[in-house]
Amino acid sequence: MLKDLPSRAARCVYRFPFVGIRFRRFLESRLGQRSYQNRTYWNESLKGWASPYLGGTLSIDLRNSITILLARQLAPTATSLLDLGCAGATLALCLGPEFKTYSGVDISDVAISKARENLAADKRHLATKYSLETGQVQDFQPSQQFDVIVLNEVLYFLSLNQVAAVIRRYSRFLSPGGLILVSLKEDEVSRLMQEVASRELKFEYGVLYQQQPQYPSWKTVRNRETPAYLVQALRLPKNSAPCKEPSFTRLK
Ligand SMILES: C[S@@+](CC[C@H](N)C(=O)[O-])C[C@H]1O[C@@H](n2cnc3c(N)ncnc32)[C@H](O)[C@@H]1O
Repeated sequence: MLKDLPSRAARCVYRFPFVGIRFRRFLESRLGQRSYQNRTYWNESLKGWASPYLGGTLSIDLRNSITILLARQLAPTATSLLDLGCAGATLALCLGPEFKTYSGVDISDVAISKARENLAADKRHLATKYSLETGQVQDFQPSQQFDVIVLNEVLYFLSLNQVAAVIRRYSRFLSPGGLILVSLKEDEVSRLMQEVASRELKFEYGVLYQQQPQYPSWKTVRNRETPAYLVQALRLPKNSAPCKEPSFTRLK
């Protein structure tokens, strides 16, 4: 109980975005690089607690379906999608034939090799051109613009400064009128990330949901095992300065 006190106190501060963001940035600058910000951590985790993200679970399929539904409804002419932190590329398995290009990027080579396996085993997607690359969201260099860019459950693993930089970075790789889809579980740090994202992008639509594996309820509740998730559709604000042409030079 006492051991949890500092993190509980921090979470109270996070409830007030104005101070919460400053406080979190200060903490992050003190803590430096975190254990979950490297490839070895993810290669290990995806063999353990994070293995559901490699495929075959109701919870991930459910969120993928919501993500793709939002993409179809809000960007009906979209044909290309960039999936940042793609894990097993399970999102690609939900794409319809209207998507001609899917590009998945993940820090972990375990994820990328499982993604290759998943896509090779999926015979329905012969019309979609895939590219899967090992890379970090912070510095991955896309080779084209995309109509839809997805950041599902990956922003948690960045600092708030990195979240802002990543949103700005990929806004430059968004086709005109393109959509950014972000999903986050409900907690105080996610709310700060949402606040940071909303300073760069315009909220257009959101779906808040929570799975109820044990008993039905009419409201979302705090629950570590099955938290509520918000899937948000965001766009560049109309009056934003025109983005500089991105450079499509590959780094490697
Ligand atoms: C919680 S999983 C989410 C997977 C998938 N987006 C989903 O929602 O089903 C986080 C994924 O992001 C990847 N990841 C974490 N930090 C990353 C980073 N800095 N750059 C690229 N990928 C990262 C992990 O390897 C992992 O596959």
